[in-house]
Amino acid sequence: MCGIVGFVGSEQAAPILLDGLERLEYRGYDSAGIAVISDDKKIIVKKAKGRLNVLRDMINGGKSIAGTIGIGHTRWATHGEPNDINAHPHLSGDGKIAVVHNGIIENYVELRDFLISQGYTFKSETDTEVVAQLIAFYYAECGNALEAVFRVLRRIEGAYALGILCIDEPEHFIAARKDAPLLIGYGEGCNFIASDVTAIIKHTRDVSYMEDGEVAVISADKVQFYNAMEQPIEKAHNTIDWDVSAAEKGGYAHFMLKEIMEQPEAIRKTAFSRIRDNRIVFEDLKFTAEQIKDVSRIFIIACGSSYHVGVVGKYNLERLMRKPVEVCLASEFRYCDPLVDDKSLVIVISQSGETLDTMAALREAKARGAYILSIVNVVGSSIARESDDVLYTWAGPEIAVATTKAYSTQLILLDMLGLYFADALGKVSKDQYDDIIEQILCLPDKMEQMLEDIEDIKHFASNYFNQNSVFFIGRNLDYAMGLEGSLKLKEISYIHSEAYASGELKHGTISLIEDGTLVIALGTYEPLFDKAMSNVVEVQARGADVLALTIENNVAEMKKTVENVISVPETHTILQPSLGVVPLQLFAYYVALLRGCDIDKPRNLAKSVTVE
Ligand code: AGP
Repeated sequence: MCGIVGFVGSEQAAPILLDGLERLEYRGYDSAGIAVISDDKKIIVKKAKGRLNVLRDMINGGKSIAGTIGIGHTRWATHGEPNDINAHPHLSGDGKIAVVHNGIIENYVELRDFLISQGYTFKSETDTEVVAQLIAFYYAECGNALEAVFRVLRRIEGAYALGILCIDEPEHFIAARKDAPLLIGYGEGCNFIASDVTAIIKHTRDVSYMEDGEVAVISADKVQFYNAMEQPIEKAHNTIDWDVSAAEKGGYAHFMLKEIMEQPEAIRKTAFSRIRDNRIVFEDLKFTAEQIKDVSRIFIIACGSSYHVGVVGKYNLERLMRKPVEVCLASEFRYCDPLVDDKSLVIVISQSGETLDTMAALREAKARGAYILSIVNVVGSSIARESDDVLYTWAGPEIAVATTKAYSTQLILLDMLGLYFADALGKVSKDQYDDIIEQILCLPDKMEQMLEDIEDIKHFASNYFNQNSVFFIGRNLDYAMGLEGSLKLKEISYIHSEAYASGELKHGTISLIEDGTLVIALGTYEPLFDKAMSNVVEVQARGADVLALTIENNVAEMKKTVENVISVPETHTILQPSLGVVPLQLFAYYVALLRGCDIDKPRNLAKSVTVE
């Protein structure tokens, strides 16, 4: 959840670190800090609670710290409240070692007790300070930072990406990784570490991804890697195929709005590159269409919005393939003794590819013999690397904490996977298949048409931005889409909101509807439009103020009952959520804007959740 950046070269480190942290701020933003080895051989640590600007102002944009090697961190608190003391980097008591850390050290209490018994004292409540002190403890014994780090890694349990400075070794710093992302960036006469490539893309697109257990010693002209056996190794280089503009706002007020607008193009990249002569071609898939015949059950595992994609997927894949599909929250799946075996296909969905619960569920399913096919946006991420097969969503970097374009590309890819397998199983007719492909090919244009005319949505947002509580109701695919619409609204506008299957309302929730309660009625799922209408009437009878969403053909019918209606272009039924979700994203965005919320960095959240 936090962000790490490190630099060594001939330029001043502090401004480079601040710039990297700014690009990482979306990963965690309750405090930030940097440590630089100064020209007079001291580790200078500066850190501050709050947004990066507080730190930036404190050190005059980095100008007040001279030094060409350093590490930086932006934090999402786990151990200890967000304050100056708990912020990273953490310095050992003797001032020789500075550490930045992402992840959680599970046995830190025991290690802290050990160090206290050795006379060490602690300033912060963090697990990271324990790592810094333990490295200092071993460094005092052996006088070699790398050896001290190896000894510490043998003792610590949990997840970590670490950046480590040692005062006596100012020409290099050390990085280590286990279950938290970390990569090395190769520059001209300089080198970097980063938890996310966005931090360093301005400087280099030439990177190596660290694997679990690996350690690297990074100097300006060399990077030496070691494997988990502590033996020197060589690593392959990877080239990042997008550039810095993809990670910048490009004139938009927020990354979220930019990313909403990028959806048509992201779908084109993700879907069209896999359609040839009107047939789906998954060149990047090892799992053959034949193998699907032996699969007894499909599991879709994910968290948050990626899980919501899975809920749509359950409806669509079962409908297309006529095979049982279970959609599971990763955080529940890993502890429920799941009925997964070697006849199971597990589809793991994750934008970041680093979500810890999703990763743990993947490992659980793999250990039980399942085949793991993941749908991931970040190339080289942990989930991608541990899966048997990966389909990448080509959404490009997604910076806003609230996902939009990653959701849309996951959705289209999952629909296509369902159609591909259904075809292999002989469950779709040629006409059905052709129709869906034709509609997929029209989808980005229809989405563009929607994005060109958003005045209605702005108007509805201005009508409703003062609501305290909102209900999204719908049936079948509308219910699945409502889950995402509701999450978007609550995460960025802080309005309490719930998504309910319309038919379930009268089993309890309808008691919450009172005069003026906003109900967003989703009626884009054509087969159940009439049923959706009766639920609209029910909530209206209890005083609800209804804002409805329906396909163009049903707008007139909907307007007989509801004054405020958003129209969505029609597509194939299974693809309808891909279009329906767009106004819900925009509604959430404009409501949050009118409420003055920090849209790209909502409170208490982080882009990638790498803790349990
Ligand atoms: C959605 O807007 C959220 N930011 C969140 O629910 C997210 O989808 C979830 O944390 C899963 O992330 P992942 O796709 O990177 O695994």
